[in-house]
Amino acid sequence: SSLKIGMLPADGIGREVLPAARAAILALGSSVPKPEFIDLMAGFEYFTRSGTALPDETVDALKNECDCALFGAVSSPSKKVIGYSSPIVALRKKLDLYANIRPVKSVSVDPAVNPVVDLVVIRENTECLYVKQETQVVTENGKEARATRLITERASRRIGDMAFRTALTRPRKHVTIIHKSNVLSITDGLFRETVRSVPGLPEVNGRYGDITIAEQLVDSAVYRLFREPEIYDVMVAPNLYGDIISDAAAALVGSLGLVPSVNAGDSFVMGEPVHGSAPDIAGQNIANPLAAMRSAALMLRHLGYGEGADRIENAVDVVIREGKVLTPDLGGKSKTSEVVDEVVKRI
Ligand code: NAI
Ligand code: MG
Repeated sequence: SSLKIGMLPADGIGREVLPAARAAILALGSSVPKPEFIDLMAGFEYFTRSGTALPDETVDALKNECDCALFGAVSSPSKKVIGYSSPIVALRKKLDLYANIRPVKSVSVDPAVNPVVDLVVIRENTECLYVKQETQVVTENGKEARATRLITERASRRIGDMAFRTALTRPRKHVTIIHKSNVLSITDGLFRETVRSVPGLPEVNGRYGDITIAEQLVDSAVYRLFREPEIYDVMVAPNLYGDIISDAAAALVGSLGLVPSVNAGDSFVMGEPVHGSAPDIAGQNIANPLAAMRSAALMLRHLGYGEGADRIENAVDVVIREGKVLTPDLGGKSKTSEVVDEVVKRI
């Protein structure tokens, strides 16, 4: 049988890095079932041509034909465009991909340049401020805008469960809950309480069996992430904090172009580099393809193809450690395509 992979490059450098993920999977040969790539439409550029950023055919194909998917990046305008909404935010909801799992790990040989980081951000993917319920009214004092922030027990419980299950697979087995319940005591309070109650075990001195648990307010969590990143193992957070923390953690390992993710639900998984469409470098063949290649590996690991995932990840690590063939974001002079060739050779 084959492995049917929906491919959604979308916009900007998404189109340059998704072929890299494809090349990595193809290089695996018989480590995985024969891959079959299904090209699917989505994105802002597609919206400007067709009036929709996420056609029903794409969602139907993902639900009915694909075993998994890879997403590149989408260019979402900062100003409201009538009729447009981000396809990645919609996909996470439509496919109920409730967890965004973002491992951030340094492989630099020089800890003086990049600190030792080995953590995974488990970001809730379906609610918080990303429910996008915004309103604006004009008052006598000028415009007034509001956004609704949704936190549910159900979503907090399943993301907490994902965090504890992830911790059990890692050597340190340490979970930090990120919140701001000193200010947002009802919403973040619910997140914090629910995640804490997930193991269903009595907590003894900050421990549930093998797992240790801590919590940190989001602002000081970012501070400590920069001062002492080694204290973190699994960080579990509501949607917006998780988004911000993972970009911050990416800075510690040298580039956003290194950090992969998967969007995971109970029945589907979609790999996606953490970075966006990077319009400042798009079309120049200099985007770092490693985050996309690592996202392909994470997706495969999630599907149970750990050996294939290891082969891609090890090849990427070797190329970074050697430091000879790297894109400009990592101080190198190589093109995207040269880095892809180098990784494929190592696989
Ligand atoms: P960005 O992640 O696209 O870029 C931030 C900075 O990192 C830029 O200087 C860019 O050149 C650099 N960078 C990112 N990925 C890189 C790579 N693979 N290789 C080398 N350098 C890389 O974030 P930005 O600029 O805030 O957003 C640009 C667009 O992307 C916006 O329209 C935004 O809405 C969208 N976006 C989409 C995401 C997604 O599809 N999931 C996530 C984040 C942003
Ligand atoms: Mg982000």
